[in-house]
Amino acid sequence: MSDDHRPYYITTPIYYVNGRPHLGHGYTTVIADVLARFQRMLRGSGAEVFFLTGTDEHADKVVSTAASRGMTPQEWAGQNAEAFEAFFRDLRISNDDFIRTSQDRHKAKVEAYIRSMLDSGDIYKGDYTGWYDPGQEEYVTETAARENEYKSPVSGEPLEKRTEQNYFFRLSAYQDRLEELIRSEQYLVLPEARRNEVLGRLTQGLRDVPVSRAVGDGASGQEPWGVLMPGDPEHRIYVWIDALFNYLSTVDTDERRHLWPASVHLIAKDILWFHAVIWPAMLMALGRELPRSLYVHAYFMMGERKMSKSLGNFVTPEEIHAYADRYGIDAFRWYLATQGPWGANDADFTYAKFVEVYNADLANGFGNSTSRVSNMVAKYFESCPDPAGQTELEGHDWPKLTGEAVCSAVDASGRLDVASMLKAGLSLVRAVDGYINTTEPFRLAKTIESDPHAGPRLAAILYHCAEALRVASLLLYPAMPDKVAELWRRWRCSPLTDANNADSGFVAPLAELAAWGGAHSLKPGQHIEKGEPLFMRADPAEPEPGVKPAG
Ligand code: MSP
Repeated sequence: MSDDHRPYYITTPIYYVNGRPHLGHGYTTVIADVLARFQRMLRGSGAEVFFLTGTDEHADKVVSTAASRGMTPQEWAGQNAEAFEAFFRDLRISNDDFIRTSQDRHKAKVEAYIRSMLDSGDIYKGDYTGWYDPGQEEYVTETAARENEYKSPVSGEPLEKRTEQNYFFRLSAYQDRLEELIRSEQYLVLPEARRNEVLGRLTQGLRDVPVSRAVGDGASGQEPWGVLMPGDPEHRIYVWIDALFNYLSTVDTDERRHLWPASVHLIAKDILWFHAVIWPAMLMALGRELPRSLYVHAYFMMGERKMSKSLGNFVTPEEIHAYADRYGIDAFRWYLATQGPWGANDADFTYAKFVEVYNADLANGFGNSTSRVSNMVAKYFESCPDPAGQTELEGHDWPKLTGEAVCSAVDASGRLDVASMLKAGLSLVRAVDGYINTTEPFRLAKTIESDPHAGPRLAAILYHCAEALRVASLLLYPAMPDKVAELWRRWRCSPLTDANNADSGFVAPLAELAAWGGAHSLKPGQHIEKGEPLFMRADPAEPEPGVKPAG
């Protein structure tokens, strides 16, 4: 996973276009963005990092909703795909491509994959009867249907008993290989709880899965919507099978083929089975290499329920916009990346918690620390002071402390522990605060006239504070690219290839950028601009930004 001689290829689920984007989709995509940005910085110029997101467009509901709006499925899908792209631009997502399953580049590949599986006998024709969840467009196993009293485990709506003639994927043939794959961590499923869940379900045995739908079923009166079954135009490929292939189809070209296999697929637990079991089995059937890892996070909740399109209880792009207007989009990204449902536990999104975290980590944390240090430097020295070779002051070995923070962030990134990765940067900020409190540079400044040692000592203290904050800022960059790029401009220390573009590449790998006293460190005498604090304090008494839509 952290084998950095290989390209780093990270994906999000591709999102259904039958509705509008919301915080849940934004969450996974922001985390993927934070990981992608970290990898680009870790590897430096020429980094081979590829970050893919996109939309899943061939669901039957797209056809019926489009019809009810007097639109073609393609128009309706296009309108919503654009809404996802706009939402991701607002969230400052730096994806390298955006795949839409209705694009020919995808459909042609899917057809070829299916053809090859028909040829190998991994896909065959047969009858299927089962419990269908119309809301989720998927069959639910007999056990899951019984446990949920024959209602959808997601929406609570009744399941439908359906029989259809279908093409099937010979999933049962892969049982042993899948178990071995997941047990051996060759395909690493994280966190542990999800891995155990998959292994537990695998031991119950696998049945072959339907991979097609009859044309006309759910799409009557229209041009068939989706990818037709090769050699049998009466059938379309089931939307889920079509969708999973996006991860491969997008990079299955001469220029990009070396990117496969994916390093990390990020998903939430709603779609675990498809990604942990069906997807690797199909890749085995195709004789393709398997992705390295699958990270499965929990849900953002609203009260007791999962935030979701079907329940209509989600935070909208407009509400997120209102937060960004007041606090900056970077602050919102920080909240998602450090407080979201990463790991196995669900998380609530609340305004009160947002304000608390914003003030603690950003306004009183990173923002205050950088502005305190800029102000003192400007007041006492005008430009970056000279530490005159001192590295250890008051028991603080800054080269060592910063080096350890970088190592801990790199380690955490390898484990996909995003919050710890970012906390490594924040804890450096806190260490600088503590250091200012013990060394009291403002008090020392008053004795400069009377004490000949005071000036050099003050210079060394402030240099260390600024340089430690510079290293901290590198570790905070993946979550807050714009605020950090702003600090780098003010301090004339941008490691970006274009200081005015927070999405440009890095001139060197992280190890060089973060080296104390290295080529990229702050130079005595260089300009340090004061500027406004990066984050203004939030007033918890102010009402929540934005208005909830009626209903
Ligand atoms: N189209 C399928 C995925 C196909 S991938 C080959 C799909 N789409 S979806 O629009 O329903 O998106 C599901 C994904 O959105 C989740 O796996 C998760 O990444 C994200 N989330 C949607 N709601 C969420 C929450 N309430 N909380 C956290 N993530 C959520 O399933």
